[in-house]
Amino acid sequence: MANLFDPTKFGDIDIANRIVMAPLTRNRSPKAVPNDLNVTYYEQRATAGLIITEGTPITQQAQGYADVPGLYLSEAVEGWKKVTEAVHRKGGKIVTQVWHVGRVSHVSLQKDGAAPVAPSAIPAGGKTYIINPDGSGAFVETSAPRALEHDEIAGVVADFAKGARAAIDSGFDGIEIHGANGYLIDQFLKTGANQRTDEYGGSIENRARFLLEVVDAAAKEIGAGRVGIRLSPVTPANNIEDEQPQPLFNYVVEQLGKRGLAFIHVIEGATGGDRTFTQGGKPFDYQGLKDIYRKAGGTGGWIVNNGYDQNSGSKAVESGYADAVAFGKLFIANPDLVQRFKDKAPLNAPDNTTFYGGGAKGYTDYPSLDSAA
Ligand SMILES: Cc1cc2nc3c(=O)[nH]c(=O)nc-3n(C[C@H](O)[C@H](O)[C@H](O)COP(=O)(O)O)c2cc1C
Repeated sequence: MANLFDPTKFGDIDIANRIVMAPLTRNRSPKAVPNDLNVTYYEQRATAGLIITEGTPITQQAQGYADVPGLYLSEAVEGWKKVTEAVHRKGGKIVTQVWHVGRVSHVSLQKDGAAPVAPSAIPAGGKTYIINPDGSGAFVETSAPRALEHDEIAGVVADFAKGARAAIDSGFDGIEIHGANGYLIDQFLKTGANQRTDEYGGSIENRARFLLEVVDAAAKEIGAGRVGIRLSPVTPANNIEDEQPQPLFNYVVEQLGKRGLAFIHVIEGATGGDRTFTQGGKPFDYQGLKDIYRKAGGTGGWIVNNGYDQNSGSKAVESGYADAVAFGKLFIANPDLVQRFKDKAPLNAPDNTTFYGGGAKGYTDYPSLDSAA
């Protein structure tokens, strides 16, 4: 039986171990362009079996937060090349999380102050972080979105394909489509955000249509073996909810199982919170979800996330419940997390006051075992 340190393959991507770095937005890339500090941060974490970068918006419309690195400017592709080269030099693998926030945005982040777009004109509620014209930062209410016109949707799907191409041009080993946490794809999936009456709303098949079109467009562009997707069936993140998540996600993974993807990455419970959190009134059956994916022919890696530590992560892989485990906060604080797990060494504690924004402090200055020695 495999353990956390065993190599594997996700689609076309060789993976040195089952310890995956979860996507982590850090807001340290002014003007949406990755910089040398970002290079250092990712290079320090290159011993992860796979790095999934922070969410990277595919267009300006896809942006929802200040100082997040995108994929839509040529300068950003040049910046990312330095990141991917540094990780590859250290023997690591890295995919980028292609992202469209949908309604979780603010007019000041949009072109010409436009309203953010969403499946339906239902505000996200909650806050996002922007930079004021005078350079100061502020948490502000997300802006009221407008519903995407039917004829615009194909263009947004095409933007994901362009993002996938830009990822490969940047030297990434592939992409993770951000289908989780209440952003655009999750907004289309779930009843709380999608009240459309065309073929993108209503039935489960209709609500899943946008996700599957995005997956197919990305797979056509760069090959399915380099495409993974992140899902969060029951998370309430960004005020998203669904009346019946189990049949919805059973359908989604059944469809994904036919597509030869590299991996499926599932957030169990409330992102960053209660693993047993549920929606739709019933506990969610994650094992059943994976079984449906496999039965449909899915051979991609099954990555699980949310609140795992070495002990629970080892159990998940050794029991065959998962192929790999993604760790978020532990990778923020422990650049050499893999070595620390191997040595059963103590872990640095993450400092949540430096998660979002700032410079090297709380970003590239967490000590590794080597530097501490
Ligand atoms: C600072 C921070 C930034 C995050 N940014 C993202 C992101 O860009 N994309 C995403 O899908 N999840 C994001 N998450 C969620 C994490 O990927 C992960 O699901 C969560 O931290 C739970 O895993 P953990 O318990 O191992 O930390 C973020 C979490 C944190 C703490």
